[in-house]
Amino acid sequence: MSGSEQSEQISLFDLGGLAAAPGPVPTPPAMPPIALDRLPTDGRLPIPPGTYDNLEALFDHCRQCQRCGLAAGRTNVVVGRGLPTAPLMIIGEGPGQTEDETGLPFVGKSGQLLEKILESVRIDLANEVYICNVVRCRPPGNRAPTPEEIAACRPYLMEQIRLVNPKIILLTGATAVRGVTGRKDGITKIRGQWMDWDGRLCMPIFHPAYLLRNQSREKGSPKWLMWQDIQGVRSKLDELLGRSSSEEF
Ligand code: URA
Repeated sequence: MSGSEQSEQISLFDLGGLAAAPGPVPTPPAMPPIALDRLPTDGRLPIPPGTYDNLEALFDHCRQCQRCGLAAGRTNVVVGRGLPTAPLMIIGEGPGQTEDETGLPFVGKSGQLLEKILESVRIDLANEVYICNVVRCRPPGNRAPTPEEIAACRPYLMEQIRLVNPKIILLTGATAVRGVTGRKDGITKIRGQWMDWDGRLCMPIFHPAYLLRNQSREKGSPKWLMWQDIQGVRSKLDELLGRSSSEEF
């Protein structure tokens, strides 16, 4: 081994000698913290669980959000409404025109029907329910949101679920089921069945818009099936909250 080869070996491998060298020890560059003000603008950046201390902080971010192309067409971002500590959470697909105009989920025709369905089993929307969607901005022409749009918005939904911490989650329609659980089953096959997702009790139900298109109340019709499902939800809610079904709330 030549003299120069030997000194190269020492400089590469004799780290003990280097560490002992006098002068300041260089510190590795710190990983930059995740800049919160950058999150809304890039759908590929993760929003880690625990990012938001409360729903107000999450709302604030959503209002500035540019994580997907839907942001460009919105009038208002539609984050959620209802009781922030609700035992029942209802997740829909995405805002329609009325929701986009008002900034509130499920306030159009579908929302009015949903409210009636809940009233029919005396579930009080204002005091027991939190409502939101898999996406927070209106897809153009009321089309279903794309997988990319759902993925960009999903961290907000996960944070809403964590913060509200509901006992029961209702998933209205196949898009909500897929957006939350990843399951691709048809809604007709799985509606009314309790399922565990991420340690949470969920039930897929028909989307109210589907019921608006299917008005029959005959046994076995979508409306009749919804009536069965919502009664099951009411009973389960009573059971989980430790109250008898006849108790007023
Ligand atoms: N349909 C939905 O899925 N969500 C709304 O907010 C309104 C209609």
